[in-house]
Amino acid sequence: MRPDRRHLFTEAAAGPPAFVFDIDGVLIRGKRVLDAAKTAMAKLYKTGGETLRFPVCFLTNGGGVTEARKAAQLSDWLDVAVSPQQVVLSHTPFRQLAPRLGHQPVLIIGHGDIAHVAKEYGFHKAVTTDELAVALGSSALPFHRGSQAEPKHVPRVLGKDGFGSEAQPFAAVLVFKDPVDWYQDLQLATDVILSGGVPLRSRPVGNHTVEVVFSNPDLVWANDHPVSRLGQGAFATCLEALHQQLAGKSLQRVKYFGKPNPEPYELIQKLLMQQAHELGYVSSQETGSLPFGGIFMVGDNPKADVRGARLRGPPWVPILVRTGVFQGPEANDPEDPADIVVDDVAAAVDAALHRSR
Ligand code: G3P
Ligand code: MG
Repeated sequence: MRPDRRHLFTEAAAGPPAFVFDIDGVLIRGKRVLDAAKTAMAKLYKTGGETLRFPVCFLTNGGGVTEARKAAQLSDWLDVAVSPQQVVLSHTPFRQLAPRLGHQPVLIIGHGDIAHVAKEYGFHKAVTTDELAVALGSSALPFHRGSQAEPKHVPRVLGKDGFGSEAQPFAAVLVFKDPVDWYQDLQLATDVILSGGVPLRSRPVGNHTVEVVFSNPDLVWANDHPVSRLGQGAFATCLEALHQQLAGKSLQRVKYFGKPNPEPYELIQKLLMQQAHELGYVSSQETGSLPFGGIFMVGDNPKADVRGARLRGPPWVPILVRTGVFQGPEANDPEDPADIVVDDVAAAVDAALHRSR
Protein backbone atom coordinates (compact mmCIF):
# COMPACT_ATOMS: atom_id res chain seq x y z
CA MET A 1 0.00 0.00 0.00
CA ARG A 2 1.56 3.30 -1.07
CA PRO A 3 1.73 6.03 1.62
CA ASP A 4 -0.30 9.11 0.77
CA ARG A 5 2.02 12.07 1.19
CA ARG A 6 0.06 14.66 -0.77
CA HIS A 7 -0.81 16.50 2.48
CA LEU A 8 2.90 17.15 3.09
CA PHE A 9 3.21 19.50 0.15
CA THR A 10 -0.21 20.96 -0.46
CA GLU A 11 0.70 24.68 -0.73
CA ALA A 12 0.14 25.98 -4.25
CA ALA A 13 3.11 25.14 -6.50
CA ALA A 14 4.83 23.65 -3.46
CA GLY A 15 4.92 19.97 -4.10
CA PRO A 16 7.81 17.73 -3.13
CA PRO A 17 11.34 18.47 -4.37
CA ALA A 18 12.75 16.14 -7.03
CA PHE A 19 16.44 15.63 -7.69
CA VAL A 20 18.37 14.94 -10.89
CA PHE A 21 22.08 14.26 -10.57
CA ASP A 22 24.71 14.46 -13.26
CA ILE A 23 27.39 11.82 -12.71
CA ASP A 24 30.88 12.76 -13.99
CA GLY A 25 32.19 15.76 -12.06
CA VAL A 26 29.36 15.63 -9.51
CA LEU A 27 29.34 12.10 -8.01
CA ILE A 28 32.58 10.73 -9.45
CA ARG A 29 35.86 11.91 -10.99
CA GLY A 30 37.05 9.03 -13.17
CA LYS A 31 37.17 5.99 -10.89
CA ARG A 32 37.03 8.08 -7.70
CA VAL A 33 33.70 8.44 -5.90
CA LEU A 34 33.50 11.91 -4.35
CA ASP A 35 33.03 11.91 -0.57
CA ALA A 36 30.12 14.32 -0.80
CA ALA A 37 28.20 11.90 -3.06
CA LYS A 38 27.37 9.36 -0.34
CA THR A 39 26.55 12.18 2.10
CA ALA A 40 24.14 13.64 -0.44
CA MET A 41 22.33 10.36 -1.06
CA ALA A 42 21.97 9.68 2.67
CA LYS A 43 19.83 12.82 2.85
CA LEU A 44 17.48 11.59 0.09
CA TYR A 45 17.02 7.95 1.08
CA LYS A 46 15.57 6.57 4.30
CA THR A 47 17.89 4.82 6.73
CA GLY A 48 19.33 1.72 5.12
CA GLY A 49 19.41 3.30 1.68
CA GLU A 50 16.64 1.11 0.22
CA THR A 51 13.72 3.56 0.12
CA LEU A 52 13.59 7.04 -1.39
CA ARG A 53 12.25 10.06 0.50
CA PHE A 54 11.87 12.08 -2.70
CA PRO A 55 12.04 11.35 -6.45
CA VAL A 56 15.69 10.97 -7.51
CA CYS A 57 17.13 10.35 -11.01
CA PHE A 58 20.57 10.27 -12.61
CA LEU A 59 21.12 12.00 -15.98
CA THR A 60 24.50 11.62 -17.65
CA ASN A 61 26.04 12.31 -21.05
CA GLY A 62 28.06 9.20 -20.35
CA GLY A 63 27.09 5.66 -21.30
CA GLY A 64 28.63 2.66 -23.02
CA VAL A 65 26.72 0.32 -20.70
CA THR A 66 23.06 -0.63 -20.21
CA GLU A 67 20.91 1.42 -17.82
CA ALA A 68 20.76 -1.66 -15.55
CA ARG A 69 24.56 -1.86 -15.39
CA LYS A 70 24.88 1.87 -14.61
CA ALA A 71 22.21 1.53 -11.89
CA ALA A 72 24.21 -1.31 -10.33
CA GLN A 73 27.40 0.80 -10.48
CA LEU A 74 25.65 3.76 -8.84
CA SER A 75 24.22 1.49 -6.10
CA ASP A 76 27.72 0.24 -5.39
CA TRP A 77 29.33 3.70 -5.46
CA LEU A 78 26.65 5.47 -3.39
CA ASP A 79 25.57 2.75 -0.92
CA VAL A 80 21.90 3.21 -1.84
CA ALA A 81 19.47 1.24 -4.03
CA VAL A 82 19.37 2.70 -7.55
CA SER A 83 17.06 1.11 -10.13
CA PRO A 84 17.42 1.25 -13.96
CA GLN A 85 14.24 3.33 -13.94
CA GLN A 86 16.20 6.12 -12.25
CA VAL A 87 18.88 6.30 -14.95
CA VAL A 88 19.05 8.11 -18.32
CA LEU A 89 22.31 7.69 -20.24
CA SER A 90 23.54 9.65 -23.28
CA HIS A 91 22.19 6.97 -25.64
CA THR A 92 18.94 6.12 -23.80
CA PRO A 93 16.97 8.25 -26.34
CA PHE A 94 18.35 5.98 -29.13
CA ARG A 95 15.68 3.46 -28.12
CA GLN A 96 13.15 5.62 -29.96
CA LEU A 97 15.14 5.18 -33.21
CA ALA A 98 15.02 1.37 -33.15
CA PRO A 99 11.49 0.93 -34.59
CA ARG A 100 12.66 2.78 -37.73
CA LEU A 101 16.31 1.75 -37.95
CA GLY A 102 16.35 -1.55 -36.03
CA HIS A 103 16.33 -3.79 -39.12
CA GLN A 104 18.73 -1.69 -41.22
CA PRO A 105 22.52 -1.84 -41.07
CA VAL A 106 23.91 0.87 -38.77
CA LEU A 107 27.52 1.66 -37.92
CA ILE A 108 27.90 2.14 -34.15
CA ILE A 109 30.75 4.11 -32.56
CA GLY A 110 32.08 4.30 -28.99
CA HIS A 111 34.03 2.43 -26.38
CA GLY A 112 32.41 0.06 -23.90
CA ASP A 113 29.68 -2.51 -24.32
CA ILE A 114 27.86 -0.68 -27.12
CA ALA A 115 27.18 -3.80 -29.23
CA HIS A 116 25.25 -5.28 -26.29
CA VAL A 117 23.45 -1.98 -25.65
CA ALA A 118 22.53 -1.64 -29.33
CA LYS A 119 21.16 -5.18 -29.43
CA GLU A 120 19.14 -4.59 -26.25
CA TYR A 121 17.65 -1.43 -27.82
CA GLY A 122 16.57 -3.41 -30.92
CA PHE A 123 19.29 -2.59 -33.46
CA HIS A 124 19.60 -6.03 -35.09
CA LYS A 125 22.13 -5.09 -37.79
CA ALA A 126 24.58 -2.99 -35.77
CA VAL A 127 28.22 -3.12 -36.87
CA THR A 128 31.04 -1.71 -34.72
CA THR A 129 33.94 0.18 -36.29
CA ASP A 130 36.30 -2.59 -35.09
CA GLU A 131 34.20 -5.10 -37.04
CA LEU A 132 34.05 -2.86 -40.12
CA ALA A 133 37.83 -2.34 -39.96
CA VAL A 134 38.40 -6.10 -40.10
CA ALA A 135 35.89 -6.49 -42.95
CA LEU A 136 37.48 -3.67 -45.01
CA GLY A 137 41.02 -4.98 -44.51
CA SER A 138 44.25 -3.33 -43.39
CA SER A 139 44.47 -1.08 -46.48
CA ALA A 140 41.47 0.87 -45.13
CA LEU A 141 43.54 2.14 -42.18
CA PRO A 142 47.17 2.43 -43.38
CA PHE A 143 48.37 4.08 -40.16
CA HIS A 144 46.41 1.86 -37.82
CA ARG A 145 48.20 0.20 -34.92
CA GLY A 146 45.55 -2.52 -34.96
CA SER A 147 42.62 -2.77 -32.58
CA GLN A 148 43.38 -3.70 -29.03
CA ALA A 149 40.78 -6.44 -29.10
CA GLU A 150 39.94 -8.08 -32.41
CA PRO A 151 36.14 -8.45 -32.56
CA LYS A 152 34.87 -11.83 -31.52
CA HIS A 153 33.18 -12.32 -34.85
CA VAL A 154 32.91 -10.28 -38.00
CA PRO A 155 29.32 -10.14 -39.22
CA ARG A 156 28.65 -10.71 -42.90
CA VAL A 157 29.75 -7.22 -43.81
CA LEU A 158 30.27 -5.93 -47.34
CA GLY A 159 29.72 -9.36 -48.86
CA LYS A 160 27.02 -10.05 -51.44
CA ASP A 161 23.92 -8.48 -49.87
CA GLY A 162 25.96 -8.14 -46.71
CA PHE A 163 25.71 -4.99 -44.66
CA GLY A 164 27.23 -1.97 -46.34
CA SER A 165 26.39 -3.35 -49.77
CA GLU A 166 24.23 -1.73 -52.44
CA ALA A 167 21.41 -4.03 -51.37
CA GLN A 168 21.83 -3.13 -47.70
CA PRO A 169 23.62 0.23 -47.37
CA PHE A 170 24.35 1.54 -43.90
CA ALA A 171 21.33 3.66 -42.95
CA ALA A 172 23.00 5.55 -40.10
CA VAL A 173 26.09 6.19 -38.02
CA LEU A 174 25.13 6.11 -34.32
CA VAL A 175 27.67 7.46 -31.83
CA PHE A 176 26.78 5.74 -28.56
CA LYS A 177 29.84 6.83 -26.58
CA ASP A 178 33.15 8.69 -26.86
CA PRO A 179 35.40 6.71 -29.26
CA VAL A 180 38.84 5.39 -28.31
CA ASP A 181 40.52 5.35 -31.74
CA TRP A 182 39.54 8.65 -33.36
CA TYR A 183 41.65 7.94 -36.47
CA GLN A 184 39.86 4.65 -37.14
CA ASP A 185 36.40 5.95 -36.30
CA LEU A 186 36.74 9.23 -38.22
CA GLN A 187 38.04 7.36 -41.27
CA LEU A 188 35.35 4.66 -41.25
CA ALA A 189 32.46 7.00 -40.39
CA THR A 190 33.59 9.26 -43.25
CA ASP A 191 33.78 6.26 -45.63
CA VAL A 192 30.22 5.24 -44.74
CA ILE A 193 28.76 8.77 -44.92
CA LEU A 194 30.47 9.95 -48.15
CA SER A 195 29.64 6.70 -49.99
CA GLY A 196 25.95 6.80 -49.13
CA GLY A 197 26.29 3.76 -46.89
CA VAL A 198 28.48 1.51 -49.09
CA PRO A 199 32.01 2.10 -47.72
CA LEU A 200 33.86 0.36 -50.56
CA ARG A 201 32.53 3.02 -52.94
CA SER A 202 33.93 6.55 -53.10
CA ARG A 203 30.61 8.28 -53.67
CA PRO A 204 26.93 7.51 -53.33
CA VAL A 205 24.87 5.89 -56.07
CA GLY A 206 21.37 7.35 -55.99
CA ASN A 207 20.40 9.78 -53.28
CA HIS A 208 20.66 7.66 -50.13
CA THR A 209 21.84 9.98 -47.34
CA VAL A 210 23.26 8.39 -44.22
CA GLU A 211 21.93 9.77 -40.91
CA VAL A 212 24.47 10.72 -38.25
CA VAL A 213 23.31 10.72 -34.61
CA PHE A 214 25.46 11.83 -31.69
CA SER A 215 24.46 10.95 -28.13
CA ASN A 216 26.45 13.65 -26.35
CA PRO A 217 27.53 17.17 -27.46
CA ASP A 218 30.02 17.73 -24.59
CA LEU A 219 33.17 19.40 -25.89
CA VAL A 220 34.84 18.61 -22.56
CA TRP A 221 34.12 16.63 -19.40
CA ALA A 222 35.72 16.05 -15.99
CA ASN A 223 37.43 12.78 -15.07
CA ASP A 224 40.17 12.42 -12.41
CA HIS A 225 42.68 14.42 -14.50
CA PRO A 226 43.12 17.92 -13.08
CA VAL A 227 42.13 19.49 -16.45
CA SER A 228 38.91 18.68 -18.35
CA ARG A 229 39.20 16.14 -21.18
CA LEU A 230 37.85 16.26 -24.75
CA GLY A 231 34.41 14.66 -25.01
CA GLN A 232 32.15 13.27 -27.72
CA GLY A 233 31.30 16.80 -28.85
CA ALA A 234 34.96 17.27 -29.82
CA PHE A 235 34.82 14.09 -31.92
CA ALA A 236 31.60 15.36 -33.53
CA THR A 237 33.30 18.68 -34.31
CA CYS A 238 36.08 16.79 -36.12
CA LEU A 239 33.64 14.64 -38.10
CA GLU A 240 31.50 17.61 -39.12
CA ALA A 241 34.60 19.60 -40.16
CA LEU A 242 35.95 16.65 -42.16
CA HIS A 243 32.64 16.26 -44.00
CA GLN A 244 32.59 19.99 -44.83
CA GLN A 245 36.11 19.78 -46.27
CA LEU A 246 35.64 16.51 -48.15
CA ALA A 247 32.08 16.94 -49.43
CA GLY A 248 32.03 20.74 -49.70
CA LYS A 249 28.88 20.88 -47.58
CA SER A 250 27.81 20.25 -44.02
CA LEU A 251 26.40 16.94 -42.82
CA GLN A 252 22.86 16.73 -44.22
CA ARG A 253 21.06 14.55 -41.67
CA VAL A 254 22.66 15.06 -38.27
CA LYS A 255 21.00 14.89 -34.86
CA TYR A 256 22.38 15.51 -31.37
CA PHE A 257 20.88 13.96 -28.24
CA GLY A 258 22.34 14.42 -24.75
CA LYS A 259 22.22 17.41 -22.37
CA PRO A 260 21.31 20.25 -23.00
CA ASN A 261 18.98 18.88 -25.72
CA PRO A 262 15.34 18.24 -24.67
CA GLU A 263 14.97 14.49 -25.19
CA PRO A 264 16.82 13.28 -22.05
CA TYR A 265 14.95 15.79 -19.88
CA GLU A 266 11.59 14.58 -21.22
CA LEU A 267 12.56 11.01 -20.31
CA ILE A 268 13.66 12.13 -16.84
CA GLN A 269 10.35 13.94 -16.22
CA LYS A 270 8.43 10.73 -16.97
CA LEU A 271 10.64 8.77 -14.56
CA LEU A 272 10.22 11.40 -11.81
CA MET A 273 6.44 11.27 -12.26
CA GLN A 274 6.50 7.46 -11.87
CA GLN A 275 8.44 7.84 -8.63
CA ALA A 276 6.15 10.63 -7.35
CA HIS A 277 3.21 8.26 -7.91
CA GLU A 278 4.95 5.30 -6.23
CA LEU A 279 5.93 7.50 -3.26
CA GLY A 280 2.37 8.73 -2.84
CA TYR A 281 2.96 12.36 -3.76
CA VAL A 282 0.51 12.20 -6.67
CA SER A 283 -2.56 10.07 -7.22
CA SER A 284 -1.77 9.42 -10.88
CA GLN A 285 1.27 9.46 -13.09
CA GLU A 286 -0.64 11.49 -15.64
CA THR A 287 -0.96 15.02 -14.37
CA GLY A 288 -0.95 18.05 -16.62
CA SER A 289 1.60 19.99 -14.66
CA LEU A 290 4.71 18.75 -12.89
CA PRO A 291 3.73 18.50 -9.20
CA PHE A 292 7.16 19.35 -7.84
CA GLY A 293 8.22 22.33 -5.72
CA GLY A 294 11.43 22.16 -7.74
CA ILE A 295 13.29 19.72 -9.98
CA PHE A 296 16.83 20.37 -8.76
CA MET A 297 19.32 19.51 -11.52
CA VAL A 298 22.79 19.21 -9.95
CA GLY A 299 25.59 19.45 -12.51
CA ASP A 300 29.20 20.47 -13.11
CA ASN A 301 29.05 21.53 -16.76
CA PRO A 302 27.28 24.87 -17.34
CA LYS A 303 26.89 24.29 -21.10
CA ALA A 304 25.20 20.94 -20.53
CA ASP A 305 23.63 20.66 -17.07
CA VAL A 306 22.77 24.30 -16.33
CA ARG A 307 21.79 25.20 -19.91
CA GLY A 308 19.56 22.12 -20.23
CA ALA A 309 17.67 22.82 -17.00
CA ARG A 310 17.33 26.51 -17.89
CA LEU A 311 15.86 25.60 -21.29
CA ARG A 312 13.22 23.45 -19.53
CA GLY A 313 12.15 26.36 -17.32
CA PRO A 314 10.32 26.01 -13.96
CA PRO A 315 10.08 23.90 -11.92
CA TRP A 316 13.59 22.92 -13.10
CA VAL A 317 16.23 24.62 -10.90
CA PRO A 318 19.88 24.38 -12.05
CA ILE A 319 22.44 23.95 -9.29
CA LEU A 320 26.13 24.17 -10.25
CA VAL A 321 28.88 22.46 -8.22
CA ARG A 322 32.59 23.30 -8.24
CA THR A 323 33.85 19.70 -8.36
CA GLY A 324 34.00 19.14 -12.13
CA VAL A 325 34.20 21.18 -15.33
CA PHE A 326 33.26 24.40 -13.48
CA GLN A 327 35.65 25.17 -10.65
CA GLY A 328 35.27 28.95 -10.30
CA PRO A 329 36.87 31.29 -9.32
CA GLU A 330 33.89 33.18 -10.72
CA ALA A 331 30.87 33.13 -8.43
CA ASN A 332 28.83 31.67 -11.31
CA ASP A 333 29.25 30.76 -14.97
CA PRO A 334 29.04 33.95 -17.03
CA GLU A 335 27.34 32.36 -20.09
CA ASP A 336 25.09 29.81 -18.35
CA PRO A 337 24.49 31.08 -14.80
CA ALA A 338 22.91 28.63 -12.36
CA ASP A 339 20.29 29.54 -9.74
CA ILE A 340 22.55 28.16 -6.99
CA VAL A 341 26.33 27.59 -6.97
CA VAL A 342 27.86 25.43 -4.21
CA ASP A 343 31.06 23.56 -3.51
CA ASP A 344 29.78 20.01 -3.88
CA VAL A 345 26.75 17.74 -4.28
CA ALA A 346 26.04 17.46 -0.52
CA ALA A 347 25.83 21.25 -0.27
CA ALA A 348 23.59 21.19 -3.36
CA VAL A 349 21.12 18.85 -1.65
CA ASP A 350 21.14 20.99 1.50
CA ALA A 351 20.43 24.13 -0.55
CA ALA A 352 17.60 22.40 -2.42
CA LEU A 353 15.98 21.00 0.75
CA HIS A 354 16.26 24.42 2.41
CA ARG A 355 14.59 26.05 -0.61
CA SER A 356 11.82 23.43 -0.53
CA ARG A 357 10.78 24.03 3.06
O1 G3P B 1 31.44 10.99 -21.48
C1 G3P B 1 30.79 11.51 -20.34
C2 G3P B 1 30.93 13.00 -20.30
O2 G3P B 1 30.69 13.58 -21.56
C3 G3P B 1 30.07 13.71 -19.28
O3 G3P B 1 29.34 12.90 -18.49
O4 G3P B 1 28.03 12.52 -16.39
O5 G3P B 1 29.15 14.75 -16.72
O6 G3P B 1 27.15 14.13 -18.13
P1 G3P B 1 28.35 13.61 -17.37
MG1 MG C 1 29.29 16.19 -15.47
